[in-house]
Amino acid sequence: MNLELKGKRVLVTGASKGLGLGIVKAFLAEGATVVAVARHSTPELDATEATFIAADLSDPDGPRQMVRAAGPHLDVLVNNVGGGNPPAAAFDDPLDGDDEVWADLFALNLSAAVRTIRAALPALTQARGAIVNISSDAALRPGAAPMPYAAAKAALNSLSRGLAEKLAPQGVRVNTVTPSGVRGYSQEGPDGYVANLAKHLGMEHSALLEVLPSQGGMLTGRLAEPEEVAPAVLLLASPVCSSAIGENWTVTAGAVKAV
Ligand SMILES: NC(=O)c1ccc[n+]([C@@H]2O[C@H](COP(=O)([O-])OP(=O)(O)OC[C@H]3O[C@@H](n4cnc5c(N)ncnc54)[C@H](OP(=O)(O)O)[C@@H]3O)[C@@H](O)[C@H]2O)c1
Repeated sequence: MNLELKGKRVLVTGASKGLGLGIVKAFLAEGATVVAVARHSTPELDATEATFIAADLSDPDGPRQMVRAAGPHLDVLVNNVGGGNPPAAAFDDPLDGDDEVWADLFALNLSAAVRTIRAALPALTQARGAIVNISSDAALRPGAAPMPYAAAKAALNSLSRGLAEKLAPQGVRVNTVTPSGVRGYSQEGPDGYVANLAKHLGMEHSALLEVLPSQGGMLTGRLAEPEEVAPAVLLLASPVCSSAIGENWTVTAGAVKAV
């Protein structure tokens, strides 16, 4: 299928590893021009044709600086940056963290997207472009993930749906992709969320990783590869899917048990 993404200019946040890097590679394979953003690049990102921009998107001014550095023309924005890795003390807190933890996770998972969209909107409107926000199954079934993370992703879903209504008349489509467990630093990194959860539970990181996908209801019994989630992002960004507006596509290996 020709996704008509050749020559499109795409900005992907949180793009140096994990799902973001998978999304970058998938757009490049379709002939798009990609600007990839993280605080630091990686050898894997450097090996691609993407242009890297360093930005801290938790910083209130980070998104504006990033969009300015990316240039005036933009067809697709993928707000992928996010994650929920609270400090160890949060595991013993019934609210999964103090005010600072809540503020940090909302900054990364919600405010970064709000600020990025605000900064990128003139270019996206000019191009009649598309926004794809990356959420999490934690938003749809809170309880298993840190609450400030699940709540911020639920707010991101609400933002996506509301904004889809407001921007559709200007020709800008807004959609969401909701993964469950995906291979990346938060799952596999030595200081990632799952490693820290394993420490808290007194388990080996590898032993927890082995059982977590099934326990979380993933019917494959394994984490998804970034390459298995990225195609949903590309389809939603593609002009061939121009009737997809305000959608939230789950790619969870059946983890969201709802009709
Ligand atoms: N992995 C999963 O199981 C899973 C499940 C559901 C949803 N998701 C969602 O999918 C998205 C990607 O997750 P992932 O697990 O693939 O991520 P990851 O492997 O942890 O990678 C995170 C990316 O974001 C960048 N980043 C982190 N903090 C940043 C900041 N303040 N400013 C700019 N860039 C920053 C990282 O690079 P630097 O550290 O160099 O900045 C990296 O490129 C997130 O929105 C996450 O919530 C993931």
